[in-house]
Amino acid sequence: MDRTLVIAKPDAVERGLAGEIVSRLERKGLRLVAAELRVIDAETAGRHYEEHQGKAFYDDLVSFIGRSPALVLVVEGPEDTFKVVRTMMGTTNPAEAAPGTIRGDFGIELTENLVHGSDSRESAAREIAIFFPHLA
Ligand code: RTP
Ligand code: MG
Repeated sequence: MDRTLVIAKPDAVERGLAGEIVSRLERKGLRLVAAELRVIDAETAGRHYEEHQGKAFYDDLVSFIGRSPALVLVVEGPEDTFKVVRTMMGTTNPAEAAPGTIRGDFGIELTENLVHGSDSRESAAREIAIFFPHLA
């Protein structure tokens, strides 16, 4: 089995879409391993998004991810579960994301794109260790 990190971002929780996101993942056949509703502090956000440090949108991204509670999840499925989740999320910009994806169905703005999913096996391991060290 394979695990990946998913975050229903603050915009999703604010809009009452956290359950929809969890439900889609479960109906797809992924199993919940961990779930925590938490406000992501700046230090944790900085570790999580370290690949984006120095980019023009970095400060806004850290503020956004910590502006209100997010639902942080670990899900489990068959090989390369991160790819399954990324396909279900849709492309980064919701305005361009395909219908049937989470971002395509519920989002319109790049900065309010509802959901995070690890983008590789290595990212999944790194991110799970940040949010759920007991699972690492
Ligand atoms: P995420 O990490 O949040 O799952 O999103 P992603 O892989 O699809 O996209 P990534 O390239 O990792 O970017 C992280 C988040 O930064 C915001 N962003 N803003 N203003 C901009 O040009 C810009 N580019 C990216 C997005 O909200 C994206 O989810
Ligand atoms: Mg990313």
